[in-house]
Amino acid sequence: VPDLVAALATCVGEAHVLTDPGVVAGDCTDWTRRWTGRTPAVVRPGGVDEVRAVIAVCREHKVALVPQGGNTGLVGGSVPLKGEVVLSTQRLDAIAVVDELGLQVIAGAGASLAGVQVAAAAVGLRFAVDLAARDTATIGGMVATNAGGTHVLRFGSMRAQLLGIEAVLGNGSVVHHMRGLRKDNTGYDLPGLLCGSEGTLGVITAVSLRLVPQPASIAVALVGFASIGDAVRGAIELDGAIGGVEALELMLADGLAIVAAHRSVALPSVATAPATVLVEVAGDAAARVEHLAGAVGALRGVVGEPAVALDAAGRARLWQLREAHPEAAAAQGIVHKLDVTLPAAVIEGFVADVRALCGRIAPGASCLIYGHVGDGNLHVNVAGAEVDDQVDEAILEVVDRAGGSISAEHGIGTAKKAWLERVRSPGDVAAFRAIKRALDPDGIMNPNALLP
Ligand code: FAD
Ligand code: MLT
Ligand code: ZN
Repeated sequence: VPDLVAALATCVGEAHVLTDPGVVAGDCTDWTRRWTGRTPAVVRPGGVDEVRAVIAVCREHKVALVPQGGNTGLVGGSVPLKGEVVLSTQRLDAIAVVDELGLQVIAGAGASLAGVQVAAAAVGLRFAVDLAARDTATIGGMVATNAGGTHVLRFGSMRAQLLGIEAVLGNGSVVHHMRGLRKDNTGYDLPGLLCGSEGTLGVITAVSLRLVPQPASIAVALVGFASIGDAVRGAIELDGAIGGVEALELMLADGLAIVAAHRSVALPSVATAPATVLVEVAGDAAARVEHLAGAVGALRGVVGEPAVALDAAGRARLWQLREAHPEAAAAQGIVHKLDVTLPAAVIEGFVADVRALCGRIAPGASCLIYGHVGDGNLHVNVAGAEVDDQVDEAILEVVDRAGGSISAEHGIGTAKKAWLERVRSPGDVAAFRAIKRALDPDGIMNPNALLP
């Protein structure tokens, strides 16, 4: 270990190799506190050449490394489970001047999502991906997990925002494709490949990101429904009936009550409905609200008066109710998170099945369900003393039988590694392994994530 630490210090300078157990502890446990490991060192390279040098040292010393951004990932992929070196992207945080005409910006892997949002907003533009961990989550981590968030419905996930990428692969070579052109049909799609690779192929150092115009105004409404089935159908019909729908988020009465208690906030009366959909529409707000009112009036199963907000403070109050769900779920204990996609027709039955299943195998556990209903994406959060991997296994079985996906947006990580060969064909997994061998021949890149 002393040799390794000294060699790493020659790459990045002594000040950027952290070994004090108290200092590195936070980097060894994930956001959910479900996975904890250990590391000989957290290394913070300051540029692409230093990243390359760190990878070379790790290869030479036959030590694996785990790239880490904000450590907000939810599948245990960002922590050193078996004594790997942690490569922190904290110092790769530069955000270039926004290219207003090209509608894009170059961001270092360690730049925060909020940083990119602020840079875009300063010139009247917007970065289309948004999620509640925006202050801590990094662009590199979001690309590595192909993060989704609340606006996928309108703009797609991280992969759809990528115009270029720079990365150092596990074999030491540097990928640099940063011209940021909208059309560029010159071979394999490396941004697309590295996006969603969860640190298993290389370290992403910078990306070029597409930006979109800011809407003239935005309206948010919380609509109550008599049942989950009504809410799912209502969300789909709203998307079809009004233009400019940017988000459709499902919440349930038990989750909203826990959020209200956790954040000490009052709920609008509509929040007591069995199911609630938060709908955000962009464009001319007044016209949209009129459309929205008409469209809501035509839906089946609407209960109560929708809560509507046009101004920023009111919108933030409504969004807070949805965005505080992960934090409120984590406050119930060490939370087992499942992040699944289901066909719209089975969502209501799935929620009933999961609740029954939790009642059977983890009777005292809290089970919070919410999600991006416009994408068929539900987040299941189970926390409590008797919750173990059996709960995950049983829920994923239900998902698989229903023809869904075991990961909508958080990725496979370490949490669902054992499931990969059950949900992807032998040919798919063989192709994954061939790519892994070619780009990371020594198998040093994040060995705990993705590939079993
Ligand atoms: P980390 O957690 O540090 O790492 C995640 C993975 O990426 C690891 O496998 C790591 O090895 C790899 N990695 C990190 N940086 C690099 C790099 N530069 N090069 C190569 N590999 C790298 N996700 C969604 O999709 N949608 C949501 O709505 C959403 N909401 C969230 C809300 C909260 C409150 C929290 C805590 C998380 C949420 N997430 C959501 C999880 C999401 O995966 C992360 O927030 C984000 O994508 C990870 O960024 P990070 O910088 O924290 O990455
Ligand atoms: C969300 O949509 O809130 C996130 O994906 C985080 C979570 O699943 O809790
Ligand atoms: Zn989500």
